[in-house]
Amino acid sequence: MKCLTQLKCLTAAVAFAAVAAPLVAQTPEDYQRVVNAAYERYKNLHEGKNADYIPALAKVDSNLFGIALVTPDGRVYTAGDINSEVSIQSVSKVFTMAKVFEWSGAKAVEDNIGVDATGQAFNSIVAIEQYKGKEMNPLVNAGAITTTSMIQGASADEIWQKIIGTMSDFAGRPLSVNEEVYKSEAETNQRNQAIAQLMLAYGHIKDNPARATDLYTRQCAISVNARDLALMAATLAAGGRNPLTNKQVLRAELVPEVLAVMATAGLYDDSGKWLFATGLPAKSGVGGGLIAVSPGKFGIAVVSPPLDAAGNSVRGQKAITEISNALGGNPYFVQNRALAIKKQ
Ligand code: DON
Repeated sequence: MKCLTQLKCLTAAVAFAAVAAPLVAQTPEDYQRVVNAAYERYKNLHEGKNADYIPALAKVDSNLFGIALVTPDGRVYTAGDINSEVSIQSVSKVFTMAKVFEWSGAKAVEDNIGVDATGQAFNSIVAIEQYKGKEMNPLVNAGAITTTSMIQGASADEIWQKIIGTMSDFAGRPLSVNEEVYKSEAETNQRNQAIAQLMLAYGHIKDNPARATDLYTRQCAISVNARDLALMAATLAAGGRNPLTNKQVLRAELVPEVLAVMATAGLYDDSGKWLFATGLPAKSGVGGGLIAVSPGKFGIAVVSPPLDAAGNSVRGQKAITEISNALGGNPYFVQNRALAIKKQ
């Protein structure tokens, strides 16, 4: 840093620290304090609107607001309503993708679907048309339905057991489907049915697009609370090991690839803005869930149904940004002292 006077140099250093250096919390009390502070700051924020293109989602209480953070050593920090459940929706796409990486190879997913941002809405048909169903990713609807279609099984039920088993392993408890949400989406998912037909037409879904769409719809209707979602995120933060059950749910070497896709496309067309603010791989769902992963440090989740125009939870984005930055969660942030070269 070049400075004209000593005072100017000091002022510049302080200003730089304020922007670049987060207050790195050290103790469990600090973690809880930071989580509580974000809850208090945003509990009365009522921006955004519940998704209503799936009729059952419009009926969910918009005031619901819960935050949970889990560290790889299994400590759980919560604030607000962490018991009320919402449908997992697109957050589920991460975990199906992760296991299909394991079952079929990440290369097979990269070749068949792609791992690039589309720059379009999550249910875009233009994005499919642009490159005939390639050059997308497993976190947009077309890619996610195709990912689900890649799960092997002799029957729909066998495939479903793999899906619900995966979600439950990541959450560390047996999860189940909200039948009302499933029915509501199954009755209104003509657009996803069309997307699956297009992915069949372009050869990415090999057969039975209706079955893949139905399983995907059911997967999106799995019921979770903020704590479940935080544990799912924390399992990724802990290299694929669930911090509470200690089960190795995903092979550790696949976690970087999962996180890379989340960083690229987890918040759809707002993924760049999100990464700029937090540096965190994350994933949103139209049920109001948002998860983010600070590798090796924590998994965090917020449940708050009102969404912004891109389909991401408003309070979720604000609370996670604030908490992560206060805890030094941005994986791109390097403490200056780590860069100091020791002279011999
Ligand atoms: O397919 C759909 O439209 C929903 N089941 C999931 C969409 C979603 O969660 C998008 N996320 N922000």
